[in-house]
Amino acid sequence: MSLSTRLRLGLAGVIALAVLALGCGGTGTDELVIGEYGSLTGNDATFGQSTKQGVELALGELVAQRQGRIGGLKVRVVSEDDQGRPEEAVTVVKKLLNQDRVCAVIGEVASSRSLAAAPVCQEAGVPMISPSSTNPRVTQVGDYIFRMCFIDPFQGTVMARFAAQDLHVRRVAILKDVKNDYSVGLAQFFTEAFTNLGGSVVTEQAYSAGDQDFRAQLTNIKGKNPEAIFLPGYYTEVGLIARQARELGIRAPILGGDGWESEQLLEIGGEALNGCYYSNHFAADNPDPRLQEFLKSYKARFGKESDAIGGLAYDAARVLFQSLEKLAEQDPDTFRGLASSKAGTAARRPADKKLRDLIATTTNFAGVTGIITLDENRNATKPAVVLAIRDGKKVYDTTINP
Ligand code: PHE
Repeated sequence: MSLSTRLRLGLAGVIALAVLALGCGGTGTDELVIGEYGSLTGNDATFGQSTKQGVELALGELVAQRQGRIGGLKVRVVSEDDQGRPEEAVTVVKKLLNQDRVCAVIGEVASSRSLAAAPVCQEAGVPMISPSSTNPRVTQVGDYIFRMCFIDPFQGTVMARFAAQDLHVRRVAILKDVKNDYSVGLAQFFTEAFTNLGGSVVTEQAYSAGDQDFRAQLTNIKGKNPEAIFLPGYYTEVGLIARQARELGIRAPILGGDGWESEQLLEIGGEALNGCYYSNHFAADNPDPRLQEFLKSYKARFGKESDAIGGLAYDAARVLFQSLEKLAEQDPDTFRGLASSKAGTAARRPADKKLRDLIATTTNFAGVTGIITLDENRNATKPAVVLAIRDGKKVYDTTINP
């Protein structure tokens, strides 16, 4: 054999080995990569932080119970900060898909950011599970988009019923964040339900996230003398608005939705929030053992209480793990395709599709935020709770069933 023939054979061997390596795990690893994105910084940073920690807790349990593996592949989570900006959500989700080659994406909390990034996942054919976006349009983006929570036509009805039937209020003012899809939608769903119950909306005022001074809107509201104010916004502005309302002598209770849910709500709003109410995905003082077990582990791991977002993110991660496990059991060859290449390639498409189908059939999943069954529109139907704020504490008031 001549030297050049030997060299050529050697080279062929090296190429063959490389091709083999690519064939079983295109990235050369045996990893299953999951993406997670949220607002780790910005105006509503507790949303992103709680989501990240909820997912981390679920991953920690997978590590403790099964060496962090599903179907023989090691699970790794990549988290991205979108700074609370919809454009940035698009950028980081593209990065998760193209660079990290994730097999699924968990996020976002805020409906506006889920709406911005969902089309990217839908187009790539990679499942996206929003733990907590409640605007109905989010899952309407397409059949790869899921959520773990109820939707706002229900949440609006919950608070309308609460106002009319529990508080016996007939005249309500609305103050909404006009740049926030969630806020605009929830204001509309509340109005529809409240007027159907015989109530009336005496004025509707607007602000934008990041505003500091709400006195003009509140002065208009005061002039109409409403019996309650419906404020479907996020916690930062809610806290400031409550303070300024009380400074202006408005004593009517303020009502809101899940966007109030944050460990910072009461720090920002203080005493101004006593006597106010909001709808949420869980009540931390609910003695349900599954919920209490979760709250205990979360506290042990992160040194603080979980809010509802932490619970929904934990549920999202566990629903995803369960679906991945089912795929690994039912069809191990297709399952390994999830680790082999980038979404949208021929190797990935059958795996992505099967994973999607398995998530879609989630039925009676025992979540810490309730039993999760996804309907044909990929939404969960779950009860909501109304929390009251009394003496600077959030306390359970009522449960409203769908
Ligand atoms: N539901 C809100 C939205 O769609 C987000 C949110 C969920 C905020 C849960 C707090 C708690 O924008």
